[in-house]
Amino acid sequence: MEKLIIKGPGRIRGSLTVSGSKNTALMLMSGALLAPGRTRLTNVPLLRDVSTFSQVLRVVGADVRVDETTGAIDIDASNLTSCEAPYELVKKMRASFYMLGTLLGRFGQARVSLPGGCAWGPRPVDLHLAGLKALGAEIELDHGYVVAKAKGGRLTGGAFRFEKSSVGATANVMLAAVLARGTTCLDNVAIEPDVIELGLSLVKMGARIEGLGTHSLEIEGVDALTATELENCPDRIELGTFMIAAAMAGAPGEPVRINRGRPDQLGDAFAQALLDTGATIEFADDHVLVEAPDQLRATSIVTGVYPGFPTDLQAQWVVMLTQATGTATVRDPIYPDRFAHIPELVRLGATAGVSGDSATISGPTPLTGANVMSTDLRASVSLLMAGIVATGETHVLRVYHLDRGYERIEEKLKKAGVNIRRERYDEFAQPVPHLFER
Ligand code: EPZ
Repeated sequence: MEKLIIKGPGRIRGSLTVSGSKNTALMLMSGALLAPGRTRLTNVPLLRDVSTFSQVLRVVGADVRVDETTGAIDIDASNLTSCEAPYELVKKMRASFYMLGTLLGRFGQARVSLPGGCAWGPRPVDLHLAGLKALGAEIELDHGYVVAKAKGGRLTGGAFRFEKSSVGATANVMLAAVLARGTTCLDNVAIEPDVIELGLSLVKMGARIEGLGTHSLEIEGVDALTATELENCPDRIELGTFMIAAAMAGAPGEPVRINRGRPDQLGDAFAQALLDTGATIEFADDHVLVEAPDQLRATSIVTGVYPGFPTDLQAQWVVMLTQATGTATVRDPIYPDRFAHIPELVRLGATAGVSGDSATISGPTPLTGANVMSTDLRASVSLLMAGIVATGETHVLRVYHLDRGYERIEEKLKKAGVNIRRERYDEFAQPVPHLFER
């Protein structure tokens, strides 16, 4: 196992650079399977989730080559040999479920393991299945697998309204609909930037999609798509993470420069909330400057679908609130149980508690270093951020969670003045009893 050790209190100074988007890259990698030939994806982050998804693509027969120096991935989907995405891989990463819409769209059949639960409770896929049925798929569950077949061997298209906005279900149905025999009309689709980027890329491959950016899409199925070169967008959640970290741990009077982000993809709610804390934000063409205030103002947020406050930034916001003056709440109606980071932050001395789908945090509270356990991707980065402002050493355990979604984060933070290092440790080593001074 690996852990990160952060020695604090420290300050973030200078600049940070945003990598390619994890969540968009996973969608584009699925899209590449829709066209025979070699698709090249550029600006792909070298992350655990990307390598897991590369394995999924290889299992169905794609030739996947990752160029670690350039961050380009070549995916040749000319000779796919299987329509099955196995439990062993899907259990590691929910986005593998995009294989259902993709393989159904390309081959009219698919067998994909149902994704299990995750660190913060049930994450159903009922909308994915209902949407694909509306396109003409027959779906049954078989020993933990979703087995889907298109009547007549090819989806017909159809009309479907998503009962609630879902990023994953929208993407899965889009991936299936672009190669259907007919037209698909979708309502109440998600408009998260990842979904828009997927739509624009599918259009570049020859798909016919109207309404991108709105909550209604019309997708006229085509007989074939063409492999081409697709550029992945920057990671908006990494950008948001760095902006919150700069507001919390930057040095007043010394703006932190964050390069290569797309702040427009973060939505207004987030930018306004950050300004309400007293932080200063300056947007430029290719970078954002964030300056920490002398004292942060406690600011409550409620997460929402885009352009609302992203749920993937609420854990980072909670940490910042431990250093802000006053009491504030963080409510997450998208994932009501997504507060596994709170008990770990309390171990560092935070004043925080959870009730229902809300957390209440008071500050400013001095944090002190301790061992803390990562439980999921965004919770783990929030613990890392807490370690920057805590006094002494914070050991963030099980950082494989962090490696799923943040590329070379300790390298980036080290360059920005944070005292951080990675170490291996034995999770099952026996604790050494604390010997009393004689
Ligand atoms: C995507 O997950 C992201 N994952 C998540 O980021 C992100 O938190 C989430 O969107 C919301 O923005 C990827 O892109 C790989 P949803 P997804 O379907 O698609 C409910 C990260 O940290 N729902 O929009 O799974 C669901 O339970 C990850 O990078 C149903 O009820 O999210 C949730 O309450 C974590 N039935 C809500 O909708 C369904 O069939 C939104 O989920 C599908 C979803």
